[in-house]
Amino acid sequence: MSKVFVLDHPLIQHKVTLLRKKETNTKDFRALANEISLLMAYEVTRNLPLSDVEIETPMCKMTGKEMAGRSLGVVPILRAGLGMVDGILTLVPNAKVGHIGLYRDPETHMPVEYYCKLPVDAEERTLIVVDPMLATGGSAVAAIQFLKDRGCKDIKLMNLIAAPEGVKAVTDAHPDVEVYIAALDEKLNDHAYILPGLGDAGDRLFGTK
Ligand code: PRP
Ligand code: URA
Repeated sequence: MSKVFVLDHPLIQHKVTLLRKKETNTKDFRALANEISLLMAYEVTRNLPLSDVEIETPMCKMTGKEMAGRSLGVVPILRAGLGMVDGILTLVPNAKVGHIGLYRDPETHMPVEYYCKLPVDAEERTLIVVDPMLATGGSAVAAIQFLKDRGCKDIKLMNLIAAPEGVKAVTDAHPDVEVYIAALDEKLNDHAYILPGLGDAGDRLFGTK
């Protein structure tokens, strides 16, 4: 489990509790998902490459650091992953965004792909795959495999809430991928929903239920 990081900063824990509450409405749910994503992104981007840059302060010349070009890509798994993108872009506005469309078949719980559009230079970037929920792990395992099949090598996964089953599925299938989560929950129910979880993230984000 060495590549699994539970980001349990007090601000994150507080906001995750608000996110889970059944009375939290769509507007607040959206805002919270983005706020938590921003806070998590601070940690997930800790090792992004920097390059030297010569600058001049009002006092003298110096060598500063800046983010190396073509450094980051954010890849939401549609549709609930969209709810995490703006928070990350607040912190890293020049990141490119790719999209992978997957839904879980309600009977088999297996992921079905319906869309994929990535930045042209995706394989040169650190890619952060984002999805609020890591349940069975089927969607995340498949999304990461799509990226690897397209030549991407530096991939991280960021979820708000994970079940142990999902964490195991991802770390077994992709041991090279770092997994960042805000909360590790207890288990899955018979419909592969996370307990205690927060319900259906897509429906809560978009008000579709
Ligand atoms: C949810 C969630 C993940 C997936 C997690 O998406 O956003 O993508 O389920 O489950 P897994 O780990 O068992 O694969 P859903 O299929 O409900 O689609 P949506 O985002 O369009 O609502
Ligand atoms: N997808 C969700 O939106 N919630 C869960 O608990 C599991 C999968």
